Amino acid sequence: MYDSHVRVSAAGSPAASSTVTEAVLPGIVEPDGIQVRTRPARPAGPGQVVLAMEAAGVSFAEQQMRRGKYYDQPPFPFVPGYDLVGRAVDAGEGVPGRVLGRRFAVLTKTGAWASHVSVDVGDLTEVPEPVDSADAETFVVNGITAYQMLHRLAEVRAGDTVLVLGANGGVGSTLVQLARIAGAKVVGTASSKHHDAVRTLGATPLDYRDPGLHEQLRALAPKGYDAVFDHVGGEGIVTSYRLLAPKGTLVSYGTASTRDVQGSSKAPVLKLFARLMWWNAAPNCKSAHFYNIWAGRRRLDTFRAKLHADLTQVFALLADGSLTPQVAARIPLADVAKAVEMAESGTVVGKVVLVP
Ligand SMILES: NC(=O)c1ccc[n+]([C@@H]2O[C@H](COP(=O)([O-])OP(=O)(O)OC[C@H]3O[C@@H](n4cnc5c(N)ncnc54)[C@H](OP(=O)(O)O)[C@@H]3O)[C@@H](O)[C@H]2O)c1
Repeated sequence: MYDSHVRVSAAGSPAASSTVTEAVLPGIVEPDGIQVRTRPARPAGPGQVVLAMEAAGVSFAEQQMRRGKYYDQPPFPFVPGYDLVGRAVDAGEGVPGRVLGRRFAVLTKTGAWASHVSVDVGDLTEVPEPVDSADAETFVVNGITAYQMLHRLAEVRAGDTVLVLGANGGVGSTLVQLARIAGAKVVGTASSKHHDAVRTLGATPLDYRDPGLHEQLRALAPKGYDAVFDHVGGEGIVTSYRLLAPKGTLVSYGTASTRDVQGSSKAPVLKLFARLMWWNAAPNCKSAHFYNIWAGRRRLDTFRAKLHADLTQVFALLADGSLTPQVAARIPLADVAKAVEMAESGTVVGKVVLVP
């Protein structure tokens, strides 16, 4: 039993220790311009938990944010960090004391690159105890995104043929693994240096820079693809749509091709939305969606229930060995610049994870 009205904390909580270490994006900077600073710790507020970070991810979103190119990033300066795994060390008023000492995953969008992070208790999903924190971290934003696109939007089934762009990336490699578990045949694009890794995950790799890519994609699925997952956007999205089978589903979930293009961060996304709406209005049986992990958050209880259910499924697959985590490197938070450089180098397979 617990007393849900009393503030409680565990040994090692920031209420007991005095400072928090965090990485700050001060503006549009190169990786070595990211600042590491300390500030006084704050106790957990009502309904909140303080997590002592054990692993925080370096995602594609931060590559966009440090260029000022993420669709709805906060104004500078801010602490980035899309997701983390951490242990509860302080619980605010109204939070069950039994959460203390347990390990949770949480999606934050920003704020996770810190030694201690305050989050709403309703946003926590427990990590099964035998699973390593960095391993679990690789499947938080990647796992939720891949699982929901595959099972809630495209409804991929055994026997389907699917195309995953960027099949060695964080989301892409998770999509490949989950699609294989669902019994689908998977074709995945990636740089040729990553083809062995993609093959190991169970997909047929193709080089997205090969001028003959389109013919190769057609040859591998002559009747078209039942689902195409596209994070690249730009003009290539037209090809993705054309590759669909007569009842196929296009799931677009990013505009990575415009990361280094000068100008508005919103224009490429709005152009993409217009295209998807136009295709959906076309008189055929194909469908085209944009997936946004934050969609539906206005109905918070439903949003959280789906997220917990889906991430719990992903963690169960990780715990039983069905999913293979790919941790490219574990880098201390103090060396965040090195972590970002590595994540952006295009040389690593898997996710770069920050550790305390
Ligand atoms: N909409 C949402 O809610 C949501 C949620 C999560 C993530 N995302 C988006 O998902 C995307 C991937 O994120 P991530 O963290 O998985 O990134 P990541 O690990 O850095 O992977 C990016 C991948 O993109 C590949 N790539 C780059 N250019 C390509 C091209 N022209 N054609 C095909 N593949 C290409 C890279 O392949 P090589 O390394 O082989 O070059 C790499 O595999 C990002 O755009 C991110 O914003 C969206």
